[in-house]
Parts: sequence; structure tokens; C-alpha cells
Amino acid sequence: MRVVRSRTTTEFARDAADVIAGRLHDAPASVLALPTGSTPVGLYAELVARSRRGAYPLAQARVFNLDEFCGVSPDDPSSYAAFLRRHLIDPLALAASQVRLLKGDAADFDQECLDYERAIAAAGGIDLCVLGLGANGHIAFNEPGSSWRERTHVAELAHSTRSRLEAQPSGPRPVPTHGITLGIQNVLEAREALLLVAGSDKQQAMAAVLRGVEDEAWPVTCLLRHRNLTVIELCDPAPPL
Ligand code: GLP
Repeated sequence: MRVVRSRTTTEFARDAADVIAGRLHDAPASVLALPTGSTPVGLYAELVARSRRGAYPLAQARVFNLDEFCGVSPDDPSSYAAFLRRHLIDPLALAASQVRLLKGDAADFDQECLDYERAIAAAGGIDLCVLGLGANGHIAFNEPGSSWRERTHVAELAHSTRSRLEAQPSGPRPVPTHGITLGIQNVLEAREALLLVAGSDKQQAMAAVLRGVEDEAWPVTCLLRHRNLTVIELCDPAPPL
């Protein structure tokens, strides 16, 4: 595991963008799995700015998302699909053929999980899986106690995750009880994983990673099994003297 500690939000966005742009530079047809949330917003702005300068190749990249709310249509502004389109896909002008996002309004979620797995396999598997971190240690919607053998599946959201959503004015209403998500098995199969950690509420979960002990109560610790993991952590600014 490689741990990078960024001192400012600008540095954090740049450090993360370096990993993604670097991967696309080395392998332009890379398959990316990308997160939503407040953590990657600066990263996406940085990627958009760099693409305007033609700093890295995009024409062959393919993008999947990590998770979505069950019962929320991709056209709903509070969906994760809409978030990713707003912050990254539209500004980068990615073609529809380059993007496959989970359908939160699927009529049959079991079928959608199967279709998503097939789409990932047809793309050749995930090259780089970028992850945010939940305060309770979740990655995507793999909540504490979930099986590490699962692939794309429907997951029940933890109480703490739903409370956090309730506190977000732009979050989906009613707050969904379930999400559709890549499973931990998908994350572990990705050729490279990048975990982004920002926010003081993530300290306990990050401490679980740094303890170095796999623990199903902290899903993020599954990444200790990953052979090509980078963690980029935004450190709190030093307290004034
Ligand atoms: C949600 C998402 C996760 C995301 C996490 C962190 O629960 N399902 O994929 O990583 O929130 O969000 P934030 O970056 O806003 O802290």
C-alpha cells in the first residue's frame, strides 16, 4: 500500500488526478470505476481542467460508476449518475459508448446487476477503481458486515449512511433504503485501486486501515488484500501555534 498525504485540497485533487491521468497516459483504453460524494469534486474539476489542455488521452477511456440509489432515476438530479455526468462526463464530453452507469430505476435489479457484470467483463475488467470512504468504513455501498465475496448487488444502507443522506439538502427524497453497488470482489479484482480519504469524520475508518488488520466491520480494510493500492489522504491543516 502506498500512502500519499496531501496538505491542501488543491494538492489532494492534483495528487489524485496524477494517478488517473497517469493511468490513461500509460494505457489510454483503461476502464475506470468512479465514485461520487464530496471527496472527488476537486479531483473531477482538476481532470476537466487538464483535459482542456489536452494533458492526457480520453478518447478510448471507459467509465463505470461504483454505486447508485435504488429507486432513483439517472435523470433525477440527486442520483449518483446525474452527479457524475454533471461533474465529469459532460464537461469531458465523453461519448455514450464510453460510459455505463448503474440504473437506479431498473425494473429488475437482479437483471441490472447481471447486465452490469457483463458490461464490465466485456470491457475487459476494471483497470482502476477509485473509491471514496464512508465514515463507517463503507466503500461504494458495501456497508459494515457485508460479504467480501459479493459482486454487483443490492445492499441495504446502514442507519448512519441514511442519517447522513437525510442531512444533505440535495440528497434523494425519500432517503432510499437500498443501493445498487459494485461488490468488494469487484474492487479486489480491479488491477489498481485508489482510495481517497478526506474529512475528519473518516479518521476512525482510516485508523482501521492503518492498523493493518482485515475486519469485516470495516469494509475498507478489504483493501489490505489489494496488491496495487494507493491511498491519498487529505491531512487536516496543522493547528495554529
Ligand atoms: C456515499 C457513497 C460512497 C462515498 C461516500 C463518501 O455513501 N455511497 O461511494 O464514497 O458516500 O462520501 P463523501 O465523499 O461525501 O464523504
